[in-house]
Amino acid sequence: MSPATTTVTITGAGGQIGYALLFRIAAGEMLGADRPVRLRLLEIPQGVRGAEGAALELQDCAFPLLRDVEVTDDPSSAFEGCQIALLVGARPRGPGMERGDLLAANASIFGPQGAALNATAADDVRVVVVGNPANTNALIAAASAPDIPSDRFTALTRLDHNRALGQLSAALEVRPDEIDRLAIWGNHSATQFPDVSHALVRSEPVADALATRLGGRAQAAAWLDDVFLPRVAGRGAEIIEVRGSSSVASAANAAIEHVRDEQAGTSWTSAAVVSRGEYGVPEGLVCSFPVSSDGGDYRVIEGLPIDDRARTRIDASVAELVSERDAVRALGVL
Ligand code: NAD
Ligand code: LMR
Repeated sequence: MSPATTTVTITGAGGQIGYALLFRIAAGEMLGADRPVRLRLLEIPQGVRGAEGAALELQDCAFPLLRDVEVTDDPSSAFEGCQIALLVGARPRGPGMERGDLLAANASIFGPQGAALNATAADDVRVVVVGNPANTNALIAAASAPDIPSDRFTALTRLDHNRALGQLSAALEVRPDEIDRLAIWGNHSATQFPDVSHALVRSEPVADALATRLGGRAQAAAWLDDVFLPRVAGRGAEIIEVRGSSSVASAANAAIEHVRDEQAGTSWTSAAVVSRGEYGVPEGLVCSFPVSSDGGDYRVIEGLPIDDRARTRIDASVAELVSERDAVRALGVL
């Protein structure tokens, strides 16, 4: 029997990341070469023409797996029967906009979208939030969808995970896929903690491999604190400075890998999921952890030892998530 068609909804589909996502999803890179897809593209009215143009190009690719493409500015019809939702469209920070204004603008997007998902999505829907501030936008969407189990909502930190792999593989002169058990903790922001303390390279602890390469443990620790961590956590800002706009292809790639690994299963990656209190992270926050998946939902990998350095850094990022949640609560959204 051929697999059923999967309905995938992409918000902000007329934007940059949307354009980098659509063709790869339609080619089968997200769900596999045997799963047909139906695409629903949600935009605001000003973005509809861009999404329509992408839909024309999708048709011109004649992808064998692509069953249907629909463009709409109505969240209810965009999420009708949706099984996988990629929430990419968000309000960027404008000139003079304070953090509270940004949270309020995004609450007015992710609240109604969560409600529309709640009303019209399929029972097995999975949602990943890409639009920033991704963790708190996911929190808002989940809170607005009371009938959808909250563990179906995740936010993207796979890009940070991949950035950390890229930096380590260059420093250790190995392929990225020779490094395992890396973890991004906390918020998709500059406070995130890229953690190598559990990581292995060709089965050797990364800390040992770095010490050998850099001439000692002290040098390895200094490199991690002074080079690796700021480079990974600051990469989003670096891309904006160098490119003149935020990351696109690498973000789309990370979103595809996030969904692919959640669906196909993985023993270890990073994703922001709704905390159940793991590692002391307050319940309900959407926080990045090391996660695994058995092909259903991402689950936090528990029982890892957390040293004082890691604890301090995780706590700092979690404190930022708490302050974002409290700012949204103060708006009366949660
Ligand atoms: P973009 O401005 O090119 O595209 C965003 C699109 O979203 C626009 O076409 C806009 O019309 C649309 N949009 C806005 N509000 C909408 C709504 N309510 N419903 C549907 N569509 C809506 O931006 P981009 O480069 O594609 O980035 C999108 C988001 O992804 C930004 O918030 C960016 O900061 C974020 N981002 C996240 C990561 C991550 O790793 N989590 C990485 C890179 C970028
Ligand atoms: C990124 O990590 O590249 C983006 O989240 C940065 C941004 O602010 O859009």
